[in-house]
Amino acid sequence: MSGPLVVLVGPMGVGKSTVGRLLAGRLGTGYRDTDDDIVAAEGRSISDIFVDEGEPYFRALEKEAVARALADFDGVLSLGGGAILDADTRRLLAGHRVVYLSMDVEEAVRRTGLNVARPLLAVNPRRQWRELMEARRHLYEEVATAQVATDGRSPEEVTEAVLEQW
Ligand code: S3P
Repeated sequence: MSGPLVVLVGPMGVGKSTVGRLLAGRLGTGYRDTDDDIVAAEGRSISDIFVDEGEPYFRALEKEAVARALADFDGVLSLGGGAILDADTRRLLAGHRVVYLSMDVEEAVRRTGLNVARPLLAVNPRRQWRELMEARRHLYEEVATAQVATDGRSPEEVTEAVLEQW
């Protein structure tokens, strides 16, 4: 199947963008992130879209952005952490090489801290992380053709681990 060489999924803050860029460099291909596509098209930040329009509006944009990128991009593609919530998106991912970058809750809290720029974590990061992971883990696993644990690993080490899954 044509489309991205690899699609990275996983929770926010797991390192999809950093690892995605490193991977694209190693593979000699381009890098794209559906969050960036949405920000460019809307001319405002993800947080502003959430606050101004609400999450369902953002999810509709995200669904379109993912479908477009899967159809017309052939490099390393990162999806926003919640893209896999959509059943049609999960179906579209079937047949693609999809790598789930995972981390445990404590690593997630350490990495993202109290970063209020991430709208889903503004109130109680640890509890919200636990709930997010519980709700989404099986969805990441459902779409993934490989899983790479990132806990305690540098972006370079994660990139190597992804390439070993090829
Ligand atoms: C979200 C993850 C974010 C962004 C939005 C919602 C989520 O993307 O799409 O804030 O629902 O997990 P990153 O995973 O790139 O941070």
